[in-house]
Amino acid sequence: MKCVMKTAAGAGNLQFVQREIPEYGEDDVLIKVLATAVCGTDVHIQGWNDWAQRYVTPPIVIGHEFSGEVVKVGAKVKGVKVGDVVSAETHIPCNSCEICRIGERHVCPHSGLIGVNRDGCFAEYISLPYQNVVVCDPSVKPEYLCLMEPLGAAVHGVMQYPVSGRKVVVNGCGPIGAMAVAVAKLCGAARVIAVEPNSTRAELAKNMGADVVINPAKENAEQVIKSIATYGADVVLEYSGNAKGIESVFRFVRPEGKIVFVGLPSERPNVNFSEFIYRGITLKGIAGRRIFNTWEDMNGMFAAGLDLEPIVTHTLPLEDYEKGLDMMLKGECVKTILKP
Ligand SMILES: NC(=O)c1ccc[n+]([C@@H]2O[C@H](COP(=O)([O-])OP(=O)(O)OC[C@H]3O[C@@H](n4cnc5c(N)ncnc54)[C@H](O)[C@@H]3O)[C@@H](O)[C@H]2O)c1
Ligand SMILES: [Zn+2]
Ligand SMILES: [Zn+2]
Repeated sequence: MKCVMKTAAGAGNLQFVQREIPEYGEDDVLIKVLATAVCGTDVHIQGWNDWAQRYVTPPIVIGHEFSGEVVKVGAKVKGVKVGDVVSAETHIPCNSCEICRIGERHVCPHSGLIGVNRDGCFAEYISLPYQNVVVCDPSVKPEYLCLMEPLGAAVHGVMQYPVSGRKVVVNGCGPIGAMAVAVAKLCGAARVIAVEPNSTRAELAKNMGADVVINPAKENAEQVIKSIATYGADVVLEYSGNAKGIESVFRFVRPEGKIVFVGLPSERPNVNFSEFIYRGITLKGIAGRRIFNTWEDMNGMFAAGLDLEPIVTHTLPLEDYEKGLDMMLKGECVKTILKP
C-alpha cells in the first residue's frame, strides 16, 4: 500500500513509500481509508517541535483523522462488520487501569495515539482495535466523517454545559472553534458570539452560523459582548490556544458563568486567579473526546443536519501530502482532505 512515513527523528524526514498492508489481530479491524485530513499535529511532526520530540516514535505512518470502510475483521470483533463505514477514536486507552475502569478512558494515562506512537492513517489501509472504531452513517460524505476527530474537540467542549437558550462566546475560530460555532447553534444557543482576529477565519465563523463576529484586534471585544449580554456570556468556549486570548475570556464571562478551555497554549497565560474565584466562575479543561459519548453526540449531530461544508477547503491526492502540510503551516486552508 501507499503511505506517508516519518522515517526518522528530526525536521522533515517524511517519505511517500510502498509498504505491506498492515496485519490485523483477532480484536482488530482492517480499514480501507476513504478520506484523511491534515491536522496541525502533522505539521508539528514534520517540523519536529518539542512535543513531537517527546511523543513521536519513528518510523511510523503519520496521520490520525480519517474515515474508511471495514474490509476485514478479526475473529473476536463484535459490533463492526465488513462494509461498515467508520471513523475512529485516535487515543487507544489501555482499558484496564483505574481511570479506564471508572469510565474516563479519554484521559487514560497509558493511552497510545495513532499517527504519533503507532501507525496512522496517511495510508491506503489502517488496522485498529475494534473497540476504537465508530460505525457511521454511510450517507454522510467521507470528507466530513474524517473530520470527526477534531469535530469531537468542538462537540466535547460545547456539550460540557447547557447552551440551549444561553449566550455563548466562541473565542478563536480556526477549524475547531468554527465547528464549535455550528454545534452551539445546533444545540439551540440564543446567541453565538465569535471572537476571531483573522478576517478569513471571521468569514468562516459567519458561514458556520455565528450571530456576531468580533475582531479583538480592532474592537473592544468585552464591550461588544456586554452590549449583547449585559454581565457577560453564560458560557465562554476557548479555542484560540493563544495566551492573550486565554487571558481575555475571563472578561467575557458573567459572574457564575462557565469557561471551557480546549485551545492548548504554547506560551503561559497570565491569569489573575482572584478574577474567577470571587466571581464564582467555573473553569473546565477538555481533553480529546469522551469515549464514546462524544462520538454518539457527533453521529446525532450529522443526523440533525450539521454541515461541515465550509470547513473542507481543499482536497488532494495522498501523494500531494507535502502541499497539504505546507498550506496548513502557512494558514492557507481550513481543512485539507487527502485521498489515498
Ligand atoms: N484539548 C484538546 O483535546 C484539543 C484537541 C485538538 C486541538 N486542540 C487545540 O485547540 C485549538 C484549536 O484548534 P484549531 O485547529 O482550530 O487551531 P488554530 O490554531 O487553527 O485556530 C486558532 C484560532 O484562534 C485565533 N486567535 C489567535 N489569537 C486570538 C485571540 N487573542 N483571540 C481570539 N482568537 C484568536 C487564530 O486566528 C485562529 O483562527 C488549538 O490550540 C489546538 O491545539 C485541543
Ligand atoms: Zn488532529
Ligand atoms: Zn487506562
